[in-house]
Amino acid sequence: MRAKNWGLIGIVGVALLGIGIVIGQTRPTMMGGRTSRGMDMMSSNSATTNLTATAAPSQKLRLPPLLKPDYSDAKSVAYTVTAQTGTMAFKSGQKTQTLGYNGAYLGPVLQVKQGQNVTITTKNALKSATSFHWHGAVLPGKMDGGPNEPVAAGTTKQIKFKVTQPAATLWFHPHVMGSTAKQVYQGLAGLIYVRDAASQKLKLPQKYGVDDFPVVIQDRQFDAHNQFDYAKAYSADGTKGSTLLINGTLNPYITVKSQLVRLRLVNGSNARNYQLALSNHQAMQQIADDGGLLTKPVPVKKLALAPGERAEVVIETTQLAAGQPLAVMAGKQPVLTLRLTQDRRKLGQLPTTLATLPKLVTDGAQHQHLTFSGMGHMVAINGKTYSQNRIDLTAKVGQPQVWTVKNDRGMMSGRTHPFHLHGVQFRILSIDGQAPPANERGWKDTVDLKTGSTVKIAFTFKNRGIYMYHCHNLEHEEQGMMGQIKVS
Ligand code: C2O
Ligand code: CU
Ligand code: CU
Repeated sequence: MRAKNWGLIGIVGVALLGIGIVIGQTRPTMMGGRTSRGMDMMSSNSATTNLTATAAPSQKLRLPPLLKPDYSDAKSVAYTVTAQTGTMAFKSGQKTQTLGYNGAYLGPVLQVKQGQNVTITTKNALKSATSFHWHGAVLPGKMDGGPNEPVAAGTTKQIKFKVTQPAATLWFHPHVMGSTAKQVYQGLAGLIYVRDAASQKLKLPQKYGVDDFPVVIQDRQFDAHNQFDYAKAYSADGTKGSTLLINGTLNPYITVKSQLVRLRLVNGSNARNYQLALSNHQAMQQIADDGGLLTKPVPVKKLALAPGERAEVVIETTQLAAGQPLAVMAGKQPVLTLRLTQDRRKLGQLPTTLATLPKLVTDGAQHQHLTFSGMGHMVAINGKTYSQNRIDLTAKVGQPQVWTVKNDRGMMSGRTHPFHLHGVQFRILSIDGQAPPANERGWKDTVDLKTGSTVKIAFTFKNRGIYMYHCHNLEHEEQGMMGQIKVS
């Protein structure tokens, strides 16, 4: 009995020291010599969608492999990406049935350079159709991998495009009508790093897995057999889970060997919004939005990330001693713990200017108004649900666009809709009539529409084709909160 209590105190102590949080409602209990904070019991209850407090950081953050190109030179690069089934040991006990790209869960990082011609051979080794959508990539509609470009089970499809956009953290995932949300939930999502010469010259952390880490944030619901039972976890208003997986890692930590650490935060969750903050309440320096670097680093104490959104931040650990607790938190829940080593490599100062962004062109713009409304099974854009046979909007390559996108509160309340547009990067002109906050003034492809709010964006299509725009709450998208624009 005494030993048991000591064990508990030790565990709580370690958790508090390691991550600097106060454990709230959930108390640790000893189960067969292992600790649990009630997570396993709660996870069988699919109605529970609050994140549960987890144990102390215990696993090294998994790093998606950097995919070896089939071919590469200065002007071109070719990759092969295969959607496949797999199993993963996320936690002790039974393995989880998963989907992944070139592996069991999630996918590798595809590195492409601005100016390069990219060829990607996509293979569907699943038993059902999928598609390969390059979220955030500026490319022709035919290459975009939306619902109009499915890849049937057992087949292969090749896409080609030229990288014209600046350095950014993009991602890819399936986009077939009816199974996007489920396939993403089961693990289909990968990363694309766009590199460019200008950003390479900046003194930013850029050593993969050393001072530059991908951080794909997902919430999942494990059933009693450690499985992702999508049907059971399903909610028409957005499927959530009580367990956080970061790059597919439970309770992850990284060992930080430098004074500046870059995190490429990706909200790869189906429907959960995060408010991220450091456990020591210091600011992170945000350096990039969805589609590339900001003009200068912006200190952020709270960083909101809606499904589909990315943000790159640099955390400065200069003032912190080794062993000091530091973690990126989502509320009371640690997302990623940083273990600081004694002699952290200096990388000088964070550059004060990062990139120049072109002036927003709105002269002669075509104006569009989109209203997102509803919840659950009744979501719509301008009163309509998606139809593959209907083109909702048209536009011309090169003509400036100004879109006013609104989340109509209607009779319902409390629903946010992360608006996402394919094939371009846009900039935010205003949010409810106000200039956007400094950390949202860069290139974006996804912006959260809070209940009742109106966001104005500006952009120009550079390529032809049919593109989707939709709510990136993947369950809303599946209910038809999506439209098509034809660019000619
Ligand atoms: Cu992230 Cu239409 O997609
Ligand atoms: Cu997309
Ligand atoms: Cu929505």
